[in-house]
Amino acid sequence: MAKLLATFVVVVFFLGLAATTLAGDPDMLQDICVADYKSLQGPLRLNGFPCKRPENVTADDFFFGGLTNPAGNAAVGSVVTPASVENLPGLNTMGVSMARIDYAPWGVNPPHTHPRAAEVIFVLEGSLDVGFITTGGGNNTLFARTVRRGEVFVFPRGLVHFQKNNGGSPAAVVSAFSSQLPGTQSVAETLFGAAPPVPSDTLARAFQIDAGTVELIKSKFPPKH
Ligand SMILES: *[C@@H]1O[C@H](CO)[C@@H](O)[C@H](O)[C@H]1NC(C)=O
Ligand SMILES: *[C@@H]1O[C@H](CO)[C@@H](O)[C@H](O)[C@H]1NC(C)=O
Repeated sequence: MAKLLATFVVVVFFLGLAATTLAGDPDMLQDICVADYKSLQGPLRLNGFPCKRPENVTADDFFFGGLTNPAGNAAVGSVVTPASVENLPGLNTMGVSMARIDYAPWGVNPPHTHPRAAEVIFVLEGSLDVGFITTGGGNNTLFARTVRRGEVFVFPRGLVHFQKNNGGSPAAVVSAFSSQLPGTQSVAETLFGAAPPVPSDTLARAFQIDAGTVELIKSKFPPKH
């Protein structure tokens, strides 16, 4: 009986260890696997992208020049420019990516989550009020503070978080992610801009507001397709 129990404990330990090890993008099985976007024209679909043939790989596959300049600003006053596996093919299987976020004065990067990545930001310019909120098991605790030029803040994987430029001049950060494609679910857009739409009575009950208010919010988030 004691032996059985010991075996059980060992098995549970290793299952836990395996779960920890696999709690990010899958590990790479070769030096490089540059994403072959052309493969998407064929029928093959898999987790990530197939690799380009080695003879077709060049240094440019590991380069992206798109974070050089500040991006223009959207309605909420921020723009995220990703450097992910979708525009930097050399990131395929590497388990990391980056982004640049530019904020207009008082601009907000609205509450959102990255289901596949933790995020570390480095403030290039300006000063931001940032925060993340733990799950219900963590009592929905808000951890928030101000971060300034040259400082770093981390948003745990999967948790809802946001940034707000707390000044009257532009701000910018560089973000590093623990996934080649972190995925972004913006809370408001996900719920109020989905297509087909999430039923208004469902949202009215969930937010404990009337359907008219739900329609008003929906009108701010026209579906993208
Ligand atoms: C690889 O490069 C060769 C020669 O440039 C080209 O003909 C071929 O289409 C390329 N293959 C792929 C899969 O890109
Ligand atoms: C959540 O709140 C309860 C009640 O105050 C407390 O006992 C528990 O430790 C809190 N849990 C966390 C993860 O903070």
